[in-house]
Amino acid sequence: MSRNIASILGTGSYVPAKVLTNAELATQVDTTDEWIRSRTGIGERHIAAADEHSSDMGFKAAERALAKAGIKASDLDAVICATLSPDFPWPATACLIQRKLGADKALAFDVSAACSGLVYAAAVAEGLIAAGTSKYVLVVGTEKLSSILDWSDRNTCVLFGDGAGALVMGPSNGRGVIRSMMLGADGKQVEKLYQPGGGTVCPASVDSVSHKLHFLKMEGKEVFKFAVKIMGEASASAVAQAGWKPEEVSLFVPHQANIRIIEAAAKHMGLPMDKVFVNLDRYGNTSAASVGLALDEAVAEGRVKAGDKLVLVAFGAGLTWAATAIEW
Ligand code: ACO
Repeated sequence: MSRNIASILGTGSYVPAKVLTNAELATQVDTTDEWIRSRTGIGERHIAAADEHSSDMGFKAAERALAKAGIKASDLDAVICATLSPDFPWPATACLIQRKLGADKALAFDVSAACSGLVYAAAVAEGLIAAGTSKYVLVVGTEKLSSILDWSDRNTCVLFGDGAGALVMGPSNGRGVIRSMMLGADGKQVEKLYQPGGGTVCPASVDSVSHKLHFLKMEGKEVFKFAVKIMGEASASAVAQAGWKPEEVSLFVPHQANIRIIEAAAKHMGLPMDKVFVNLDRYGNTSAASVGLALDEAVAEGRVKAGDKLVLVAFGAGLTWAATAIEW
């Protein structure tokens, strides 16, 4: 059976208006601009308004991606949303985005792979398009991480921000062609990065709230070690699967978690930093939105030209990882 080749037809992104600088954070927790910049590369992050939710940000990024792709919402066959900060535990945030867009004929569901979620969702989209099950698929990564952070914990609250990134995918038009997908997970490391409360293990209760179990918990050092290793390895295997040599990569678009992780991954690939896209300084780690937000900015800034060889790579809770090679 012949399979369709899937492409990225358009990208979009959105960040909320409010900016929270390191200096402002330093008035709330025991930290400094110098510590945050030197240990993470983050200078500021955007924070959603109280009445602005993951689906709202995802909707705005989606509208922009649809406009760039020249596709109407009513033409979408599927909406896949990646998020770890959904509007509701269920149903899917994808259903809310589908409703806001008026994408009435689209199926809709969420993918749960934390920061790797956008690339995981793109892999699912590629499968739907390749099999001919769906023609046009919207992939959205959107996060309101500010709502699940403990703002008194300096180990975590300085790292994250809110925002959304989106891709419109469809049958290949010769641009933005997906050449390989490399996904993985190591469930032995679930507790290194997770939200303990709110699921069936620890349903919401007065006790769970008073023990702050509905916030993100992380063993930062352990996650850092894992990320340094997996980002390089996953990228190298996506490149090999595409039949490329590492030095042929035109632009590396990594998950924006920590500049030291990004530099280590680029070094593993033998890539100079001028081939690496970084916007972490302005947004912090926006989890599932991160890679989509970075790709959209790279395109908008003219960093991506027809025929360029791109690698997108992410890691996240699960622990999960995902990399894809894209010929632009
Ligand atoms: N300001 C000042 N000091 C701080 C801060 C802060 N914001 N945070 C931690 N410190 C202190 C610590 O308390 C520690 O002090 P101590 O030595 O007196 O105990 C010291 O700084 C060093 O802490 P480390 O944990 O060793 O710092 P490190 O250099 O490892 O950096 C960091 C910590 C930035 C969290 C790093 O480990 C990291 O980036 N880890 C990966 C995080 C990540 O990328 N997570 C991905 C999430 S993806 C997803 O799926 C959501």
